[in-house]
Amino acid sequence: MTVQSSIGPARHEVQAHRGASAIAPENTIAAFRAAAEAGAKWVELDVALSADGTLVVIHDDSVDRTSSGTGSLGDLTAAQISGFDGGAWFDARFTGERIPTLAETIAALGELGLSANVEIKQHKHHKSLDQLVHTVQADIGRRSAKTDIMISSFDPEALKAMHQLEPGLEMAMLWGRPPEDWAEQLAAIPATTIHMHFKALSIGMLEETTRRGIKVRAWTCNDPVQLVSFWGAGLTGVITDDPKVFLG
Ligand code: G3P
Ligand code: MG
Repeated sequence: MTVQSSIGPARHEVQAHRGASAIAPENTIAAFRAAAEAGAKWVELDVALSADGTLVVIHDDSVDRTSSGTGSLGDLTAAQISGFDGGAWFDARFTGERIPTLAETIAALGELGLSANVEIKQHKHHKSLDQLVHTVQADIGRRSAKTDIMISSFDPEALKAMHQLEPGLEMAMLWGRPPEDWAEQLAAIPATTIHMHFKALSIGMLEETTRRGIKVRAWTCNDPVQLVSFWGAGLTGVITDDPKVFLG
């Protein structure tokens, strides 16, 4: 069903999870284009380093699930990753899509007029946090004036390091269920945004985050009915595989 704006998120608070991953292969340019076509202003995407230090847009630490190739990111160069088909696994219509680099994606987002929540994945093959965050900084530094960037991560150290480099960017701490001391952990980054699993939302917590000026977005929710009771309590936004169900 579609939820009207009075009981739903603001249009710019609907983030397409891995692009519009319900209708196109996740974390591909096709998925970002589909998000724009659905009316989304923001996409969420996952980034990790290849063996030769290029940031690629992919959720897993291997290409096995989302491409025609096999192997771990830590054993594959960006050129090898780019050579795999990243679309046919989802649907034959998407044959020819590739696993994009972050740099290619930033360029495409500018053309599509989209902004991005860049989720920094921390994988075992990543050897240096410094390399990881400096590479993110270099890639997002080439964004178009039309593209806003925010950073999210399950790794507070990645957020701390990114905040040092880019203190003007919104940092979102990712938790399935926030810990008891969420306020202290956010302050240590520092961050003022929580991205949490929608099933862990509570009215009481949202009242507390609202009181403290903390934003909360919920992932990964594809059914607006699940969130209806939370918007009035201060839920800020939603990260969804299917943005059109929230955008109408
Ligand atoms: O940003 C929310 C969500 O993407 C976090 O989980 O595993 O889908 O990257 P995951
Ligand atoms: Mg993600």
